[in-house]
Amino acid sequence: MPDHFEDMWRTIEPIGRSARSGGYFRQPFAPAEREADAWFVEQASARGLRIETDPFGNRIAWWDAGSGPGVVTGSHLDSVLDGGAYDGPLGVVSGLAALEVLQRRGFRPARPIGVSVFVEEEGSRFGLACLGSRLATGAMSWEAARALQDRDGVRLDEAMAADGFEPENPQPWLGSEQISCFVELHVEQGRDLVDRGGAVGVASRIWPHGRYRLDISGEPNHAGTTRMEDRRDPMLTYAMTALAANKQARVAGQRATFGRVETTPNSTNSVPSGVTAWLDARCETDEALAELIETITRQANERAERDGTRLAVTAESVSGGVDFDPDLARRIAGDHESGDWPILPTQAGHDAGILSTQGIPSAMLFVRNPTGVSHSPAEHAEVPDCLAGVDALAETLERLAS
Ligand code: GLV
Ligand code: MN
Ligand code: MN
Repeated sequence: MPDHFEDMWRTIEPIGRSARSGGYFRQPFAPAEREADAWFVEQASARGLRIETDPFGNRIAWWDAGSGPGVVTGSHLDSVLDGGAYDGPLGVVSGLAALEVLQRRGFRPARPIGVSVFVEEEGSRFGLACLGSRLATGAMSWEAARALQDRDGVRLDEAMAADGFEPENPQPWLGSEQISCFVELHVEQGRDLVDRGGAVGVASRIWPHGRYRLDISGEPNHAGTTRMEDRRDPMLTYAMTALAANKQARVAGQRATFGRVETTPNSTNSVPSGVTAWLDARCETDEALAELIETITRQANERAERDGTRLAVTAESVSGGVDFDPDLARRIAGDHESGDWPILPTQAGHDAGILSTQGIPSAMLFVRNPTGVSHSPAEHAEVPDCLAGVDALAETLERLAS
């Protein structure tokens, strides 16, 4: 069995990988991600699975067996900019490999089993995390989503039309009548499993998280002739805000990151006219997240007042905290020959979280990541751990589809 995982992994690994950094650029409805999508269709078809494609580009490859709502596993094939190989693809490849394990064992499921791929999980192109699963479940309407724009001003509906998707009044369709439960396998994005000495774990909850755009405007001027006291420099407001956000999150055990900044006109010898920066923030509770954003916004406004600049804050993507079904987590984690699998929280967002909040019992399996590094070309999982993940997923699907 193991060779099948590795064979599949070898075929998907080069898709969208940068020769320069070794990282991945698989933005939704752009060539590399479309190639990965075609890879999925080819692999699923070669295994005799029936492929269902929804109006938003999400796919489920079905092993049609038994009756009633299916058990679905899967993940995503898009990446952040310069992302790692495992975030997303590990869950998809492991899903296909786990089905093979079960078929070879002669398992006869009491219900259908599917492997899904949700589009734009990372929100790397259109800014909204888990876009595909939000649209499929109705957590976001098509009317609101279709006008989202990428960095070049291309709208979501335009990008989809270029790939042959022109949905006419598409409706949400995914709920607990369609699938009885969803289990997403994912590379761990921290080091809990390293510390606990386990190859595989189960998720308990996802921290609330959000992305906020800060537009700071000032007065463009000459970098040499403008006296320091005469400037209205938005870069200063941004810099102080980044420091304040870091400090706030650090003292409270939360997360705050500015990973994307654009300055206008981006000229070395000019005081900029504007800075736009994106804050990614994550906290243990929804209340703590709201409080963190309020504090950072207040401090940024105070600084803007001193700098003579203006600030506007826009929430682009906010996901509430998710508590996964504890009975389902225990059912998956318990009664293994090797002992129970650890149950741990995560600060990363996932489609499983969206499905869970939309009424579909959901769970996640994590596979150990030796360094914990993720959203980076250095993201990694060792082959034996990946194979342990495939076995764990096969065992989980067997439990849930019996
Ligand atoms: C998705 O991976 C996220 O947590 O940003
Ligand atoms: Mn990710
Ligand atoms: Mn992911």
